[in-house]
Amino acid sequence: MTKKTFQVPRGTRDILPDDQVYFDYLNSIFKSVVKAAGFRQITTPAFEDTNLFVRGVGKETDIVEKEMYTFRDKSDNLLTLRPEGTAPIVRSYLENGMQSWSQPVKLFYTMPMYRYDRPQAGRYREFWQYGLEMIGDKEPLADVMVISTAQRVYRKLGIGDYISLQLNSIGCQKCRPKYIKELTVYYKNNEKKICASCKNRAETNPLRLLDCKDPKCQPVIEDAPQIINFLCPECHEHFRQVLESLDEINVSYEINPRLVRGLDYYSRTVFEFWAGSDGAQNALCGGGRYDGLVEVFGGKSTAALGFAGGTDRTIEFIKSHPEIEVIYDQKVDVFVVQLGSEARKNCLKLLSSFWDEEVAAEGGFDKEGISGQLSIANRLKAKYALIIGQKEAYDKTVIIKEMASGNQEVYPQDKVVSEVKKRLK
Ligand code: HAM
Repeated sequence: MTKKTFQVPRGTRDILPDDQVYFDYLNSIFKSVVKAAGFRQITTPAFEDTNLFVRGVGKETDIVEKEMYTFRDKSDNLLTLRPEGTAPIVRSYLENGMQSWSQPVKLFYTMPMYRYDRPQAGRYREFWQYGLEMIGDKEPLADVMVISTAQRVYRKLGIGDYISLQLNSIGCQKCRPKYIKELTVYYKNNEKKICASCKNRAETNPLRLLDCKDPKCQPVIEDAPQIINFLCPECHEHFRQVLESLDEINVSYEINPRLVRGLDYYSRTVFEFWAGSDGAQNALCGGGRYDGLVEVFGGKSTAALGFAGGTDRTIEFIKSHPEIEVIYDQKVDVFVVQLGSEARKNCLKLLSSFWDEEVAAEGGFDKEGISGQLSIANRLKAKYALIIGQKEAYDKTVIIKEMASGNQEVYPQDKVVSEVKKRLK
């Protein structure tokens, strides 16, 4: 009988060490950019009360209708694996009294998310997001700061020139209903020309009609009324100032009247960064304002905005451009080479001293000869090989070999750590 082998659940995957290099690269750039802009890290639980997402993200959204991993625990609590980070962070803002902190509160995160999506390239059931939320700032300049921070991340990652910023305003509670009414009438008049899901969307979530991907619906979308023409004077002025400030700092964008985003909490500015001409699997990140969400969760009216990028998708995009240099190879500064049982003991002691000083050091403990170990040092691109042969073990010395030049010098073992540290500076 053959033994059962196990596989990861569909839509999930192992992040193997070679891929982890890309995750570290992206996250380290993201963190350094957003920390410089004054954001501080937050991590929320992997699961939350299901109602948080139903109320926050919206009952009629794809996420809540089709994609949530919802379960009852042993105490009969209804819980959902976090499908996105904004609702949990607003919950945390209120729960932890952040309304009394100095405003705006600026938070960032890198967390795994869970959506029962149809797995395909760039679409997983467990995926990672890097994102930030800025709560307590209503000014158009805050929009510009958030958008330009995302753009700075992409520039630093080396993909700034390959992507486009898509921008729209979806108005507010005051002006959007008028637009929705107009859109619904327009779709009623074109009922025969649209797909079955759009017939349903026209009833439940008319804004989503605009990002249907069915070819049949494209001509109808093309001629649909545009929300930008229905904005109230306040929303219109807000959007005008966002565009003006983006122009001032030379951030280029495309106004995309169809961009409506898939979550219900948005208001006014919405945006995505696309790698390619349409957003289906190409949105590297999405975000916008959600000025009403704090109130939906019981807080006082508080303007807020943010974005989240798909880590897996961004990495796949970086990988598809081999000319982009990922400078985040795990480095090895020192490789300790030894020969003989006494030298092997010295080797472990020496490695421990390097690790205490956080110098990246490795060593060969097996019985391979000196040349075999040196070739491992070469392969790991170690800067120095420290060689302890039988003579050196006896003398308590070590040969420092600079791998690039081949130069060698003998040093006392108790002085070698400080010497190597000096040379690495
Ligand atoms: P979202 O557009 O649902 O927004 O997701 C943001 C990004 O996560 C997408 O642009 C995409 O790159 C990535 N993503 C989404 N679903 C998947 C998937 N199944 N597999 C791989 N990557 C995926 C939000 O989640 C909002 N919370 C963003 C936000 C923050 N808005 C304001 N603040």
